[in-house]
Order: sequence, then structure tokens, then C-alpha cells
Amino acid sequence: MSTIPFFPDQASSLSPRIDAVFFVLMAVSVFFTIAIGFLVVFFAFRYRKGAQVDRSHAISSSFALEASWIGIPLVIVLGIFALGTQVFFEMFNPPKDATPIYVIGKQWMWKVQHPQGRSEINEIHLPAGRPVRLIMTSQDVIHSFYVPAFRMKQDVLPGRLTSEWFEPMKVGRYHLFCAEFCGTEHSKMGGWAVVMEPTDYERWLKGVSTDGTGNGSSDAGPAMAVSGARLFEKYHCSGCHGVNSEFRAPKLAGVYGGQVPIMGSNGKDVDFVLADYKYIRDSILLPKSQVVAGYDPVMPSYKDVLKEEELLQLMEYIKSIGRKEGTER
Ligand code: CUA
Repeated sequence: MSTIPFFPDQASSLSPRIDAVFFVLMAVSVFFTIAIGFLVVFFAFRYRKGAQVDRSHAISSSFALEASWIGIPLVIVLGIFALGTQVFFEMFNPPKDATPIYVIGKQWMWKVQHPQGRSEINEIHLPAGRPVRLIMTSQDVIHSFYVPAFRMKQDVLPGRLTSEWFEPMKVGRYHLFCAEFCGTEHSKMGGWAVVMEPTDYERWLKGVSTDGTGNGSSDAGPAMAVSGARLFEKYHCSGCHGVNSEFRAPKLAGVYGGQVPIMGSNGKDVDFVLADYKYIRDSILLPKSQVVAGYDPVMPSYKDVLKEEELLQLMEYIKSIGRKEGTER
């Protein structure tokens, strides 16, 4: 049903723009391939051995010729650069109101967690006409989240957060793939992106079925920040970092998105680091690597204790207890 034959649907706001870059490149390539191919054949025939043609006055140098064969391709290439860069910047600057959705790749499935609580496997439900921002990580090896209809493909890396935004435009079901070879069942690691009307999406988030039968399964879990708060208790983080804790440990309210003073590598000077996802993740998994200035390095590592989704839930909790404006990641 795609508008262009042999092309995937243009189902996101960026799809037509990305296709435009592709078609411009294609048109330029086709034009020069045909023009040069034609001239090669034409000259080979015209100046073949024995042909009665004027072979005098061969040009040895010509400024106009030199200038044009350097100048014209330069202008074309810079034009392509400008066109591509414009789309690239748009792709990497999510709108402020983009809805975050968390994606975890693992051998061999996609786990999707909506901050409001609902989670799913190998499917991602999305609201049409609203920008969404995927925040992605991997539990094991490198995967790549690929939805051709959205023209989006983004590597998903262990121990790092990657993100990509888009605005789904058309209600429908679109193929989702893993586009990075990740082991035996790589080819089966995929599913569907389901774009719904925003009202249907809201109902779906609450665990209500949208098939009209009213037999909605209520599998919406607690919001991620709520799960994170539970983990904060469960793993006794609150024993030291809790508001009422007697223990001398950094309190976490208002930390996310701000600058944290860190003990310098020489043990004396103080550096400042941004409290983003990486910082919080490192603080939980490798607590000795970044010790807040003025505190002792006594926190144990939670490596091999917490799963990726638990780390994301803890981060949502830490975000929810205060964050500074204008920072993400
Ligand atoms: Cu995951 Cu290929």
C-alpha cells in the first residue's frame, strides 16, 4: 500500500524528507551515469581507428574547463551535504514534548517499557501524530532497532543509552527488525510497531483492549518511577540514600540533570560531571569510579544484581524525585 512502488510505507513525519534525500542522490547518480556512459560510447565510436575526423588542435590546457569540472561537482556535492545535514539535525533534535519510551534489546527479543507502566515484547504501540522518543539500551550484545516505514535505524548498545525520535503519522502495523547480527536467532528478533489513534493509545496504556469487545486484559504494570521506588527499597538503597537515612551518603533528590562534584583522580581536586543516565548507571554498577566529593567510597557495586530494566526503573525514580530542566540523556 505504499505510495511509491517497491517502497515501504511513509509512516513517520521524517519518512518523506529522508526519501527526498535518497531520490536526489539517485537522480544525480542516474544523470551522470547515463551522461558519462553515453559520452564514452560516443567518443569511442567517433574517434575509432580509421574514422575521418578532425584530430588537430587537441586542447592542452583550458582554464574554463578546469574551473567548471571542479566547480560544478563542488556545488552539487555541497548541495547534497546541505540537504542531508538539514534532515540529520532534525533527526537528532527531538522536540521537547516527545513522549519517552524505553526499549531494551536482548538475545533475541525487544522489550518495550512505557513510563506509565505498560510493557510489551516484540511489539511497540505508538500514538499517531505525536512525537515519541525511544531511549534504548541492550542487555547483552549490539542490536539495532529498525522500522523501515519510519525510516529509522539505530544501534542499541550494552552499557550505553542511544535515542531516536520520530512522529508516527499513519495508523497501522509496521515491521520491526533487528538490523545488527547478534547471534543464532538474530533473524527472528523482530515484531511490529503498532501505530494507534491517540485516544486508543491512552486506553491501551491503561490495559484496556481496543478490539471493542471490552475484554481488556489489565496487564498494565505500575509506572516505571513507582517500580523504581520499590527497587530503591528492595535493594536497600534507601537505607543510605533515603531522605530520613542517618547514614552519610549523597541524597538523590534533585540530582538528576544537574552537575555533581566528583573527587578528582588525584584525590584532591573536584571535578563536575553531569548527572545523566550514564552517571547514575555508573554510580550503581561502578560506584568507586565516581565518588561524590566529601564522601567515602563505601558503596558496593550492584553489577550482576540489577537487570537493565531495573536500572531504567531506578533512573525514572531518581528523575521523578527532582531534576533540573533542559537536560536529558
Ligand atoms: Cu538483535 Cu540482531
